Amino acid sequence: MEFDINSNISFIQERINDLEKITEKENPYTRLVFSKEFYDGRSWLRDQYTSLDLSISTDEVGNLIGLLKTNKKNKQLVIIGSHIDTVPSGGRYDGIAGVVSALCVINHIKKNDIDLPFNLAVYDYLGEELNDWGTSCIGSRGLAGVINEEILSRKNTAGLVLKEEIDKIGGNSKLLNKPLPVIKNILACLELHIEQGKVLEDRKIEIGVVRSIPSISRFSVTVKGQAGHSGTILMNQRSDALVTASEIISFVNKSALKLSQKSNQHFVATIGKINVHPNSAAIIPGFVEMTIDLRATSQNSKEEFLNILNKKISLLNDTSSCNVKIKDLAFAPYVEMDKDLIYLFQKSANSLGLSNTIMDSGAGHDTAQLSRVVPAGMIFIPCKDGLSHCPEEYAKVSDISKGTAVLWEMVQNLARKKIEADI
Ligand code: GLV
Ligand code: MN
Ligand code: MN
Repeated sequence: MEFDINSNISFIQERINDLEKITEKENPYTRLVFSKEFYDGRSWLRDQYTSLDLSISTDEVGNLIGLLKTNKKNKQLVIIGSHIDTVPSGGRYDGIAGVVSALCVINHIKKNDIDLPFNLAVYDYLGEELNDWGTSCIGSRGLAGVINEEILSRKNTAGLVLKEEIDKIGGNSKLLNKPLPVIKNILACLELHIEQGKVLEDRKIEIGVVRSIPSISRFSVTVKGQAGHSGTILMNQRSDALVTASEIISFVNKSALKLSQKSNQHFVATIGKINVHPNSAAIIPGFVEMTIDLRATSQNSKEEFLNILNKKISLLNDTSSCNVKIKDLAFAPYVEMDKDLIYLFQKSANSLGLSNTIMDSGAGHDTAQLSRVVPAGMIFIPCKDGLSHCPEEYAKVSDISKGTAVLWEMVQNLARKKIEADI
């Protein structure tokens, strides 16, 4: 059943428009996991599932699932999923494009009364974006069985415990110590996402078939100095935590630049979150906490970076009057996508006459966690100027519709493969 790219544009556009209205009004487009806006977004998604006549459930980790059951006697499952949570003042398309395109595939199936040889589910993976608990990809980590008790027991700055939030949204955090049982039925997990970079736009290519996703490591760095009066304590008597923190910030930036040039591989490090205490103009900063976000395709570069960073921290502890500590927050390994799915994605794009290329992701995704336990693959569509995680993020709905056509072609290719395998 042919998927018409043009006639599906309005279906996609309306839903992107709906979701962008569900935001913190003063910081568009913000729908932080577990916030009121997030709950509102989920209730919108439930309505979407209902209008597509899907069975609705929330799994043990709080993923919101809309299931289209096959009429055949078959328990196998293909998932198309992404996320509706956002970063603060984040994008209108990051994650959202993937969930809306999944709804669009289901709508196409329903309209044409197609029966697939497997169950097909839309997943809104819980909390893909980095949150105040210092982790990301809660839903996909939980599905893959790689979320641990230490992370689940963390409190955020408001004192809320992560596992209690998971339970409130309908999960059952006691069962998250191993991969969820559904894993054994999963045939494939597919995701459409905006590229969040400029490769496709610059090369005027319609579809990126993702080959790999870099490792992501996050560390908390704390600097303890001594707060005091900004007028009376002389410059040579201070333990200014922010001054020491600023040395670490430039050290991280410069070392990452050097290493990325030396290794000629994807290697980036960012300190994008910093809290200064007590954060008052007339007080010398006494305490700073910040987060390092590190992405690498090479384990060697990452180890080299951590080695020199730890040396720098020891040096600061010896020579400054502050005390610096570094602690692991979260880790996701470098992963490669399933080779058969890469091949099928390319075949699907080619059969639709859409230009495509194999490429590596710079960002992290739920698909990275899922690929640790099941066949998983993803495609990118272009986004304007490569901008993402900012309010300017923009993707053409016609490009999302092209990606959706590839997803549908992919589902059909998987169905053909399944039927052949069952004969
Ligand atoms: C996900 O958005 C990431 O931080 O890469
Ligand atoms: Mn995303
Ligand atoms: Mn994101």
